[in-house]
Amino acid sequence: MSSQNIYILGIESSCDDTAASVIHNGRILSNVVASQKIHEEYGGVVPELASRAHQQNIVPVVSQALKQAGVDKSELSAVAFTRGPGLMGSLLVGTSFAKSLAFGLNIPLIDVNHMQAHILAHFIDEEGFEKPSFPFLAMTISGGHTQIVKVADYFDMAVIGETIDDAVGEAYDKSGKILGLGYPAGPEIDRRAQLGNPKAYTFTKPRVDGLNFSFSGLKTAILYFIQREVKANPNFISENLNDICASIQYTIIGILIDKLKLATKKTGVNQIAIGGGVSANSGIRKALKDGEEKFGWKTYIPKFEFTTDNAAMIAIVGYLKYLNNDFSKQDIVASARLKI
Ligand code: KG4
Ligand code: ZN
Repeated sequence: MSSQNIYILGIESSCDDTAASVIHNGRILSNVVASQKIHEEYGGVVPELASRAHQQNIVPVVSQALKQAGVDKSELSAVAFTRGPGLMGSLLVGTSFAKSLAFGLNIPLIDVNHMQAHILAHFIDEEGFEKPSFPFLAMTISGGHTQIVKVADYFDMAVIGETIDDAVGEAYDKSGKILGLGYPAGPEIDRRAQLGNPKAYTFTKPRVDGLNFSFSGLKTAILYFIQREVKANPNFISENLNDICASIQYTIIGILIDKLKLATKKTGVNQIAIGGGVSANSGIRKALKDGEEKFGWKTYIPKFEFTTDNAAMIAIVGYLKYLNNDFSKQDIVASARLKI
C-alpha cells in the first residue's frame, strides 16, 4: 500500500482482554492478548474487576508487543486505541494510556471504533487469507456483539441489523450455564454438537422483523424445556447432553443463516465476511461454506487470532486512518456506546 515505513501500536481494552499489537505497513509484527481469567468463576464479565485487571496488564502487554515486534517505541509512527463501544471503566484504561504515550512520544493519536475494527481485520495482510472487495456484508458475532453491516468502503459502513437483546455468544454461554457447563460455554457446546443429533429437540426461532436478532427468548425456551425434562428425569441433561447441544446449535445457526439470506436478498450483496469469537464455530463455518454452493455466496473468515477481541484489528484501522491523515485530538474521550 505504501513505500513508507509506518509502524503503528494498537491498543485494545474494551471488555475483558488487554491487548497490544504492532503493525508495519499492513503486516502484523506482534499480537499480544492478556485474557482475564478472573471472570470465569462469575460466569460472565464483571466490569469493575475488568478495569482493575486492565490497569495491571496494560504496561506489560504493550512492552511485550513492542519487544516481540522488535520495534523501539521511538520508531512508532502513531498510537491507535479503542475508543468504544465497550465497558467504560475498561475503555478508560486503554484511552488514557494511549493518550499519554502518544503525547510523550509526540506522535499522532488515532481513535478506533471497535466494531469497525472487527470488520477491517479482514484487511490485515496474512498469507492464505483473501481480502473481501467492496461492497460486502460483515457479520460480527461474539459474546458482546451480533451485527450485520453493509460495508461500502473502509470507513463507509451502515449497520443493517443487530440484536435487540442478547448477543449470540451470550445465547451460547447462558445455555451452557443452564446445562451446567463452564464459562464461556460456546466451544464446549460446539464440540458436543458435533457428536449429537441436531434434530433431537426443537426450539422455536424468535420472530424479529427485518435483519434484527433476538436471543433472549431462545434462552428462556431452553430454560423451560430443561426444567420440564429434568422434573420427569433428573438425569435428562447428562443422558442427552450431546443431542441438547446439537439442537441448540442447529437453532442458533438457523437464525444466523436466515438473516444472512435475507440480508443478501435485500442488499444484492453476496460477499459475506464474518468475525467475532463465535466465528470459530464449526457449524457456522460449515453453513457458510454450504451457502457458497447453495446461494452463490463468497465467504471470508479471518485468521482466528484476528476475530476474537485483539489489538491487531485496532492496529490495522490505525494504519488505514494514518494513510488518510485521520488523527484524534488529545481531548478525545472514550465512548461506551460509540456507533459505527
Ligand atoms: O470475540 P470473543 O472472544 O469475545 C467477545 O465476546 O467480545 O467471543 C467470545 C464468545 C463467547 O460467548 C464464546 O462462548 C463464543 O464467543 N465462542 C463460541 C465458540 N468459540 C467461542 N461460540 C460458539 N462456538 C464456538 N466454537
Ligand atoms: Zn469485540
